[in-house]
Amino acid sequence: MTMPDTITIDGPAGAGKSTLGELLARRLGYLYFDTGVMYRALTWAALRREVDLDDAAALAELARELAIDIQPPTADDGRQYTVLVDGADVTWDLRRPEVDRHVSQAARHAPVREVMRGRQRAIGMRGRVVMVGRDIGTIVLPEARLKIYLDASLGARAERRVAELRGRGMAADVAAVTADVARRDALDQHVMGRAPDALVLNNDTLLPEQEVELIIAQLGRTAA
Ligand code: DC
Repeated sequence: MTMPDTITIDGPAGAGKSTLGELLARRLGYLYFDTGVMYRALTWAALRREVDLDDAAALAELARELAIDIQPPTADDGRQYTVLVDGADVTWDLRRPEVDRHVSQAARHAPVREVMRGRQRAIGMRGRVVMVGRDIGTIVLPEARLKIYLDASLGARAERRVAELRGRGMAADVAAVTADVARRDALDQHVMGRAPDALVLNNDTLLPEQEVELIIAQLGRTAA
């Protein structure tokens, strides 16, 4: 049985999933939910509390107790949403290089993923959601009405990341960022999946608006 009002978008870091996800959610009037934020929030909290990122049990415990609240944007500073962790606005903290560096390490533990996936699935079950991540179409919501796999070349993904960092006033070296994105790919590989029935789109050759049109056309071809 398919879940009528759910769309999943998976793919590697920097492929353009969040731009597409937000655009699509707005077009459909659905909630846009970026699951990467949950792993980032956990990593940020673990770094602050000096929880060992190799201690799966301690991290899973932290994941269970941490109040991660994702709300509509509360400031007009380019954010897609506001993230509160235990009541504090950490939206931009979650994009800091130390979180980037450590998040794959925190996200790789099975007990951590079990907690996160349970919460993600509960949100998905409410319907009317575009859920973005790495394992959403394969594991979290395999019954989603439509599953998208958004791909892009390493070079294009690194360029996007450089522009994003520079846009926020941070220094970014193309070679270093490319190496970092490649390293993230290797670390994320084991959690990343492409559902066999996913619609595969390539962001190197398509604009987000074109991707949305293709998705809407595909939705028209699948029974609700
Ligand atoms: O999409 P992002 O860069 O914000 O994701 C941050 C990290 O979280 C990345 O290392 C992959 C991981 N992640 C995951 O393991 N599963 C998801 N569903 C989403 C993100």
